[in-house]
Amino acid sequence: MDILIACYSRTGNNALLARFLADKIKADLEEIKGVRDRSQDSAVFRIVIDSLFGLKERIHKPKKKLSNYDLVIICTPAWIGRLPSPLRTYLALTRGSFKKYAIASLSGKGNNPKLIKQVRNLLGRKEVASLELKVPVKEGEDVVKKKVSLHELKMFEKEINEFVKKLKIS
Ligand SMILES: Cc1cc2nc3c(=O)[nH]c(=O)nc-3n(C[C@H](O)[C@H](O)[C@H](O)COP(=O)(O)O)c2cc1C
Repeated sequence: MDILIACYSRTGNNALLARFLADKIKADLEEIKGVRDRSQDSAVFRIVIDSLFGLKERIHKPKKKLSNYDLVIICTPAWIGRLPSPLRTYLALTRGSFKKYAIASLSGKGNNPKLIKQVRNLLGRKEVASLELKVPVKEGEDVVKKKVSLHELKMFEKEINEFVKKLKIS
């Protein structure tokens, strides 16, 4: 089965999850990049506005052809409970080419039903599996600024393996 992981990551957490999954299941990776620089703290206000009003954002042209893949895993943070604007653009551009898809997300709450619903609405059907992980924080740490380490991600190995099982890859 040919699998693509399409990932958007502003601060690296979902990129880490995407690379971890890609290694585990031998998938290709597409990193979705918005045209706008969102890396600075000052971008947060703009993120909130774009997410609340569902504003579109231009992205760099994706490199991978979705019709070459049997399964696409959308790997994403949540912004105000919703899908980041670059991923909304990506799904709107590519939705006709999707066969099966799954969702993987490493977010502050680890539970964002609006985001899952948004992807279902955009793609017109349900995912084969979803994995929602919560960024681990110690007391006093700011969840929005937290960079998850590989060691911390590996603590979710059980959840990740269950997700992989549901993909029915072999
Ligand atoms: C403006 C903003 C809004 C956020 N809103 C949510 C939210 O509603 N629910 C949630 O679970 N996490 C929320 N987060 C936290 C991110 O999902 C979390 O930091 C994620 O790990 C970032 O992933 P990345 O490093 O791949 O960009 C928000 C982060 C930002 C910057």
